[in-house]
Amino acid sequence: MVQIRRMENEDAAAVSEVLCSCYRWLAERERYTPEQAAFLLQKRGSEETVRAESREELYLVACVDGTLAGMVSVGGSEVTKLYVEPSRHGQGIGSELFAAAESAIREAGSDRMLLGTTPGTVPFYESMGMAVAGRRRPTGGPFTDRDVVIMEKRLSGAGVLLTESADEWPR
Ligand SMILES: CC(C)(COP(=O)(O)OP(=O)(O)OC[C@H]1O[C@@H](n2cnc3c(N)ncnc32)[C@H](O)[C@@H]1OP(=O)(O)O)[C@@H](O)C(=O)NCCC(=O)NCCS
Repeated sequence: MVQIRRMENEDAAAVSEVLCSCYRWLAERERYTPEQAAFLLQKRGSEETVRAESREELYLVACVDGTLAGMVSVGGSEVTKLYVEPSRHGQGIGSELFAAAESAIREAGSDRMLLGTTPGTVPFYESMGMAVAGRRRPTGGPFTDRDVVIMEKRLSGAGVLLTESADEWPR
């Protein structure tokens, strides 16, 4: 059974390990250059970065039988990271993490959620109800040769209901 909870300080090393496993898997699949892979493994996935970012953003982790198997981070209306340990892909963990991120964004009062991802992951996010909103290239860092797919999901809430009732005003 998957348990989703807030990341705690003691989880930082395990989150870093999951991220680095995913980055190695992604680097092979996407044929990243050695410079790109090193950036992900040494900088993005480091325990130091995890600790620093988790002070700024909401970090949630997924545990299966007490083992940390995935993570999602949320900053404002954006899902900034969503990663599941490669040996556990396809077991529903990513869907549960996505749903938890969506709930957090909804509860914070936002009427949409956003993220940037690699083209290979678009079908997963489409199955979560997201749609491609555009593409862009990073302007700095080692990934300026790669397209980032921007995806968006409108969250139905009070704003949508009010708009609908306004269409037939007065009632
Ligand atoms: C994308 C990711 C988070 C999905 O997590 P997961 O736990 O494997 O996903 P789930 O098991 O919840 O799958 C949900 C559905 O999406 C589908 N799916 C998952 N990954 C997919 C992919 N890469 N392409 C197409 N479909 C995918 C599953 O088949 C499943 O469909 P189903 O419900 O009809 O069976 C995970 O594969 C991952 O961490 N990938 C590496 C990180 C990555 O690529 N991140 C993007 C870079 S920003």
